Amino acid sequence: MDKKILDKLIEAAKQGMKNSYSPITKFPVGAALLTDSGKIFVGCNVESTIAGLGTCAERCVIDNAVANGEYCYNAIAIISKLEEPVKPCGVCLQYIGEFAQVADHDIEIIMAGIKGKVNKSSVYKMLPDTYGPRIAGLDLSKYECKKK
Ligand code: THU
Repeated sequence: MDKKILDKLIEAAKQGMKNSYSPITKFPVGAALLTDSGKIFVGCNVESTIAGLGTCAERCVIDNAVANGEYCYNAIAIISKLEEPVKPCGVCLQYIGEFAQVADHDIEIIMAGIKGKVNKSSVYKMLPDTYGPRIAGLDLSKYECKKK
């Protein structure tokens, strides 16, 4: 990925982190999603007083993009206040993997630390052989990929 876009995506994730609702863990996380159409969406973790009801930043940003009619993603960036880059949990990898199958291509996962450390991977690397809509034989024809 182009360095300019990478920096923009990490900066967007940082902006998302500012809106985190995390009174339970006090661990704000931000995420940004780059769509195949070139748009950037932001998200953050949203916690709940009801244990287990909250959502991670990764799922929040995907929900935000879906609500805006975008189903195909090139990359997702995640950031927390830690120096060490934060990693998506297993549930989020499954959620990202769903949309890799929708787009029919891998999705880059960019994990950023607050002082500039960046680790790069992808959903196919972190969760190979994902169960998802293509494996289940679902009809995805309604969810068109918007291109640039
Ligand atoms: N969290 C995320 O939003 N994304 C991650 O990649 C790791 C964890 C959130 C969940 C919870 O609100 C808080 O961080 C502490 O685990």
